[in-house]
Amino acid sequence: MEERRLISMLSDEAHEKFRQKIQAFARDVVAHRAGEIQQKEEFPMDIVKEMGRQGWMGLPIPKAYGGAGLDNLSYIIAVEEISRVSGCVGITLAAHTSLVVWPIYTHGNEAQKKKYLVPLARGEHIGSFGLTEANAGSDAGATETMAVYRDGRYVINGIKRFITNGTWADTVILTASHDRSLGVHGISAFIVEKGTPGFKTIRKEDKLGLRASDTAELGFEDCEVPEENLLGVKNEGFKVFMETLDGGRISIGALALGEAQGALDAAVDYVKERGLGRSQAVQAAIADMTMDVSAARHLIYHAARLKDLKLTVTLEGAMAKLYASEVSMRVSSRAIDIMGMEGLTPAYSPERFFRDAKLNEIGEGTSEIQRIVIARQVLGKR
Ligand code: CAA
Repeated sequence: MEERRLISMLSDEAHEKFRQKIQAFARDVVAHRAGEIQQKEEFPMDIVKEMGRQGWMGLPIPKAYGGAGLDNLSYIIAVEEISRVSGCVGITLAAHTSLVVWPIYTHGNEAQKKKYLVPLARGEHIGSFGLTEANAGSDAGATETMAVYRDGRYVINGIKRFITNGTWADTVILTASHDRSLGVHGISAFIVEKGTPGFKTIRKEDKLGLRASDTAELGFEDCEVPEENLLGVKNEGFKVFMETLDGGRISIGALALGEAQGALDAAVDYVKERGLGRSQAVQAAIADMTMDVSAARHLIYHAARLKDLKLTVTLEGAMAKLYASEVSMRVSSRAIDIMGMEGLTPAYSPERFFRDAKLNEIGEGTSEIQRIVIARQVLGKR
């Protein structure tokens, strides 16, 4: 089968040339480290720095702000191809780019872009997105972190949980409420720099998969930031974060897609090596997996294309993320089934992809939340 037809007619030749570049990097720099970093829970800082040197930590950002000046579809292809060998590296890139680089680019003022966006997009700094709290997960508007204005500064108090890249973050954007009685309309977004007194990593979180991706609990105790660090308009931070998640969900879709494709690649290699391809049960499994991956890719590329047209992608981002995350679970599980007991061992990548895939159904909004978002887009808010 011609590879191009299995990829997508939604990407053009320039995207496919770029894909080959990323594939070479994934093969030569990332693949041989993927199992080891997962087992050792080692954050792949050297790989992140190398991606920065390649200009890939700000792929969809104009060159004037330190980015690569490519489109969102190119960025999505990069997350897909890197995640095809390592979900840990894929999510590090995705959280940094979609959840921090992008909102500072779209909502930051010129001074904030110069100070924060440029080093982030160049990969000199790492970014984190501080939304989730112990009592504000799916109900993200229930944030208990407070921001009190005092003499030209905001004093922030609160704890953010499950923050990707948290321990390593040089720049965190977070939500905090000025007045909880105003609900989501009392929430602003702020930029907090590493080293600001009162800002600290409380602990690194332990988790089932993506063990080389850093997930941390971050504390803010009388943490004072200058009023210039307000991101966007006061009291409109919830919208900034929701809009950011619309795009972020496409990149979680790409992460899931890459993992599913990686598991399928491993299953196909195994079937060929073991001469199992004559089994009709195996053929049926490979057929379903190929169809699942292809359908996920089309939803994701379609959403990325719409984002490149500057259209709202609330619906398409949620559909791409929901569908691809379920595909990543299904395909990695079936890859293990094909391999039997060997599939359960870290000698083969489906074991790692299966553990990693569960995050896709939870991070950046659970599958239940995606269904609510999709239904509200179709039916209107009840
Ligand atoms: N774009 C712009 N504005 C939006 C929006 C969007 N996508 N979604 C909502 N809003 C606006 C609404 O228009 C509304 O504004 P008005 O009141 O002015 O009309 C306001 O925000 C409130 O919207 P809702 O009433 O719909 O809000 P809600 O409280 O019912 O919550 C929700 C909506 C969809 C459930 C939301 O809370 C949500 O998405 N929850 C999931 C949170 C989530 O995804 N967390 C992931 C954490 S980050 C992460 O996991 C990263 C990682 O590191 C892996």
